[in-house]
This record gives sequence, C-alpha cells and structure tokens, in this order.
Amino acid sequence: MNCLYLLVLALLLVVQTSVTASVTCDTGYEQDRGVCEDEDECEEEGLCGNNAVCYNTIGSYYCQCEQGYRAKLFNFTEDKGGPCKDINECTENKSICGPNAVCDNIPGSYQCSCATGFVASKGQKHFNARQNVTCDETKRSSENITVLDTDKSSASEQQLFNPTLLTFLLVSHWILKIYQ
Ligand SMILES: *[C@@H]1O[C@H](CO)[C@@H](O)[C@H](O)[C@H]1NC(C)=O
Ligand SMILES: *[C@@H]1O[C@H](CO)[C@@H](O)[C@H](O)[C@H]1NC(C)=O
Ligand SMILES: *[C@@H]1O[C@H](CO)[C@@H](O)[C@H](O)[C@H]1NC(C)=O
Ligand SMILES: *[C@@H]1O[C@H](CO)[C@@H](O)[C@H](O)[C@H]1NC(C)=O
Repeated sequence: MNCLYLLVLALLLVVQTSVTASVTCDTGYEQDRGVCEDEDECEEEGLCGNNAVCYNTIGSYYCQCEQGYRAKLFNFTEDKGGPCKDINECTENKSICGPNAVCDNIPGSYQCSCATGFVASKGQKHFNARQNVTCDETKRSSENITVLDTDKSSASEQQLFNPTLLTFLLVSHWILKIYQ
C-alpha cells in the first residue's frame, strides 16, 4: 500500500517535470510553473542605459530618455534607437538665453548668465529661458558716481588717523632727523 503511494507520487513528479520542460515561451515571456507569463524586462538594471526610463509592456518593453537627453528613437530598446545623449540646448537654439547673455550647456540642462557689462533684471547669477530674465547694461548714473566719490573722500580722511599711517609718519620723521 505504502509502496504504491510512493510509486504514484514518483510518476506524478516525472509527468510534471516533462510538462514543465516542454513549455517554451515566446520572447518577452517567461515560464512560471508551466505557464508563460509576461517577463518584466525593466527589472534588468541598466537595460536602457544612462539617463533613461524603462517601461514594461505585456511581452515587451521600451525606453525613453530623461528630460534634457535624446536618443535616435523616442521609444527605443536595448538594441535599437538608443542610447540617450545630452542635448546641447545652447547650440540647438542660439538665442535661448536672449540678448547679451552667455549660454553654458550642462548635463541634462543649460545655464544662462549675463555677459560682462550686463546685469540680470532680477539680479540672478544664473537663469533659464522660462524665467523672463533680461540682461541690461550696467547703469553708471552721475548721481551714483558722486555718491561713490563722497564715500571715497570720507574714507581717505579716516585713513589719515589710521595707526599704520601714523607709524609710518613717525618713522620717516625719525629717519629724516638722523640724516640731518
Ligand atoms: C512611445 O510609446 C508610447 C507607449 O507605447 C506611445 O503611447 C507613444 O505614442 C510612443 N511615442 C512615439 C513617438 O513613438
Ligand atoms: C529659442 O529660445 C527663445 C528664448 O527662449 C524662444 O523664444 C524661441 O522660441 C526658441 N527658438 C526655437 C526655435 O525653439
Ligand atoms: C514670462 O512672460 C510671459 C509673457 O509675458 C508670461 O506669460 C509668463 O507668466 C512669464 N513667466 C514668468 C515666470 O514670469
Ligand atoms: C543709483 O543706484 C541705485 C541702486 O543701484 C538706483 O536704485 C538708483 O536709481 C540710482 N540713481 C540714479 C540717479 O540712477
């Protein structure tokens, strides 16, 4: 009785194994206990390369580039249409930063800054096209220069009583006395 039970069990095992082995799945599917199920290709790290996002579909997958990057195909795969490369926004649109500005391409983006002698409308050091920044000529009004001059003269007056200057005067006075 016990022997027969074992025999049946062994037979079942053999049948199951042969069934499992005989199942072959199409690409994009993998067998799970004799059944073909969708394979999530995106689980494989680095399948789409750098700066890309992987999307699994039933039986397949596709990749898309992150913002600021572009591949030959918008939807690409490991062996067709990739990889993602940085977009040089500065050369693609020469006026992206507007007039009197300098454009620097950076990975995945770009950066604008005002050219020498120009200042950003909101004082930004760096900006992009979406921020409505204009680069204006640095203003040099006479009034402001006068204010600066007054500042300078009061500063030099203060320097007269500067201890270093005082020491210098004393020492030179002393040296002159020796030579006399
Ligand atoms: C990319 O693939 C998605 C999903 O299949 C689709 O909706 C979209 O239209 C495709 N875009 C292009 C440009 O092929
Ligand atoms: C280039 O950038 C400027 C400033 O952002 C924009 O107004 C213009 O439409 C862009 N040109 C192209 C061809 O994209
Ligand atoms: C930029 O200017 C446009 C047109 O004048 C306006 O619609 C938009 O809201 C402005 N954007 C910002 C961030 O100020
Ligand atoms: C002087 O400079 C200040 C700040 O930079 C500015 O707000 C002001 O308008 C200037 N004065 C004149 C007369 O342009």
